Amino acid sequence: MPVTPREGAAILALHLSPRLEGSSRRLLDSFVKGATGAGAKVETIHVADLNVQGCQECGGCEDDGECVNELDDMKVIYAAWEKATRIVIASPIFFYDMPSQGKAVLDRSQAFWNRRYVLGQNKEGKPGAKGFLLAVGATKGKDLFVPISLAVKYLFDAIAFPKSFPTLFFRQIETPDKLTEDQLAQSEAAGREFALS
Ligand SMILES: Cc1cc2nc3c(=O)[nH]c(=O)nc-3n(C[C@H](O)[C@H](O)[C@H](O)COP(=O)(O)O)c2cc1C
Repeated sequence: MPVTPREGAAILALHLSPRLEGSSRRLLDSFVKGATGAGAKVETIHVADLNVQGCQECGGCEDDGECVNELDDMKVIYAAWEKATRIVIASPIFFYDMPSQGKAVLDRSQAFWNRRYVLGQNKEGKPGAKGFLLAVGATKGKDLFVPISLAVKYLFDAIAFPKSFPTLFFRQIETPDKLTEDQLAQSEAAGREFALS
């Protein structure tokens, strides 16, 4: 039976690199091309365009699931977390993990963890939610993508997404020009598959 695009599948593409035109951006653009080609609508957010401060660990969000810091751009991400049922996270590897700009977004998502695990909201998980992790690093270490996979796993759990999700990883890419047509095609195919899943 032919596979047809999920009608109006909406995907949030969250890009964690401080480099707006780097390797992860190129891979994400291919992923998005595949997804939109399959009929999905994609909203892309570049964390580099936002000012997101770190978590102050004040405990304020334990009371109502809301962050006390309303002055920076994390409100854009909170709104996106609430709306999204499909999320692709695209990131480079910095010191075996994600860049600090992305880590700030994860830490501030503690507000959502508290909604779920302190306030008892979204206990059953968000219906139909699916995540995807796309990551790229310059070296070839066996465990290069282990820390980011764990961090994203627990981010997805906090925002009531499944803790297991497909991934696509690329090693030995220092600069975007090192990406081959085949690697970009792999990313495009993954985007198509994600949109159709
Ligand atoms: C601060 C910093 C730390 C990095 N740490 C690692 C690392 O631990 N392992 C690795 O394989 N690559 C590391 N890299 C290389 C990047 O992951 C690589 O150049 C990647 O292609 C950058 O993607 P981007 O252009 O999307 O930011 C690091 C780069 C920077 C700037």
